[in-house]
Amino acid sequence: MKTRQPANYRTRQRLLATARRLLELRARWRQRGFVCRSLAGLAPDGLFINSDMTVSCNCQDIDGRGQLGLLRTTPLVEILRGPKAKGFRRQLAAGRLPLARCAACWHLQSVPRDEARRRADQFQGPKGLSVENTVRCNLRCVSCCRETILQTRGRGQSLSLADVEIISETLHQLGAEYCGYYNLGEPFYSPAILDELRLLRHRNPSMTVLSSTNGLLLDNDPKREAALLLDELLFSIDGVSTPMVQRYQRGGDFDRSYENMRRLVEYRDARGLRRPAIVWKYVVFRWNDRPEDIARALQLAREARVDRLQLIFARNPWYAMSWRFFLSKAFRVWKRTNWRCRDILLRPADQTVEKAA
Ligand SMILES: C[S@@+](CC[C@H](N)C(=O)[O-])C[C@H]1O[C@@H](n2cnc3c(N)ncnc32)[C@H](O)[C@@H]1O
Repeated sequence: MKTRQPANYRTRQRLLATARRLLELRARWRQRGFVCRSLAGLAPDGLFINSDMTVSCNCQDIDGRGQLGLLRTTPLVEILRGPKAKGFRRQLAAGRLPLARCAACWHLQSVPRDEARRRADQFQGPKGLSVENTVRCNLRCVSCCRETILQTRGRGQSLSLADVEIISETLHQLGAEYCGYYNLGEPFYSPAILDELRLLRHRNPSMTVLSSTNGLLLDNDPKREAALLLDELLFSIDGVSTPMVQRYQRGGDFDRSYENMRRLVEYRDARGLRRPAIVWKYVVFRWNDRPEDIARALQLAREARVDRLQLIFARNPWYAMSWRFFLSKAFRVWKRTNWRCRDILLRPADQTVEKAA
């Protein structure tokens, strides 16, 4: 059954298809091939365990073309050794991109053709994984292809605790240092998130775990306890009022998300903890980028006593991009962490309450 996709997703797909063709032509012209750091196991944030326990090679595997295998039945290293991953690596070595998505993926590397061929069958267990505990979400963001994602995941829209145990054991065996606990759904939509994170932590007490939430459902003590098991939590709140937030995060509610973020800081601080770092992630669009909006966000972030305000450039939808993000003095006062991100540190370590003895 065909599903409806947002117009801007179709535009992105066309742009990616063009970029893929151009990269392939350039590789042929220059006698180069490609290596994927994700398929080589070199990226701790490259492989994604989806809510149906399939393993994808990228974070935007909306239609499932990047699925390499099923972790419920096959160990991760066997999946990386398997025919799909091997086929992808060999195509890349020959200078072809197996997915249009490869054209925009951080983990794609261009290398001389000989080196690409030599590395085509090489891989190792990655030092981390990303985990989508649920694909369900309470919002309908403008760029999200909800219908297609739900269809791709089928009946596996949330991990069971038995699934989380398999993932936890896999991370342990990999000696993983990192786990990203989110992808295309809302992690706190899961009523079992506290049990999930306890299972994850039980086998991996010192692994860094990061998650991202729209904050609306992080509104009770069990969910706050779950949050305390993380090392870093991003609150995606793209504006300073509900009408502004809803331009992109349809169904969003600024006041509730902000209040839940503020209460979590309070809850953490009351226990004398400094983890998780609590970050307000503000995706900058053309409708929330005026200097007064940013100044207001900064003031509210300080009042909530979050650790950081992260301003991040939105690459999509294309019509919502903010030129001010790069050109305006209001933004340039903060150094870029990378080309699309400015982090404003609000609570240096000495101001954050030390871990209780
Ligand atoms: C798809 S969301 C899902 C996780 C969670 N529900 C949340 O809202 O944070 C994952 C991440 O993508 C980011 N994101 C969503 N749309 C974006 C856009 N157009 N540009 C940049 N980042 C975006 C969000 O800020 C969030 O950190």
